[in-house]
Amino acid sequence: MQETLVLIKPDGVRRQLTGEILNRYERKGLVIKALKLIDVPRELAEEHYAEHKEKPFFGELVDFITSGPVVAFVLAGKDAVVNVRNLNGATNPLDATPGSIRGDYALTMDSNVVHASDSPESASREIGLWFPEYVK
Ligand code: CMP
Repeated sequence: MQETLVLIKPDGVRRQLTGEILNRYERKGLVIKALKLIDVPRELAEEHYAEHKEKPFFGELVDFITSGPVVAFVLAGKDAVVNVRNLNGATNPLDATPGSIRGDYALTMDSNVVHASDSPESASREIGLWFPEYVK
């Protein structure tokens, strides 16, 4: 059993895709262990995206994730990290297969609807950041 952190980004929440997206993970067999709707504090956004701090798009990433409420949750299941990333599709929607969340709902790299941890190590770091109360 493995856990991963998923965010439905402000574009996904604004477009009322929350139910549709949660349904895809649940149908796959992944289990929601914790979930909240959150207005993301800037410090949390900067910490979350710390590995991109030197990238030219860092400011835009932080602006975007703080532009409206986000639905954050922890999913559990076998190989949850890879299974969720497969359901999400490629980061760039131009490469995302139809049938994946980004393949079906996203047009651009910055408004790409969902985020998920990219490794078990990122998952434990991100779950600690977004759900300190769950980790305790
Ligand atoms: P996410 O999974 O949230 O993690 C980093 C995000 O950076 C990624 O999704 C994209 O939305 C965003 N992003 C914007 N521009 C780029 C880029 N050139 N390369 C990679 N990611 C980018």
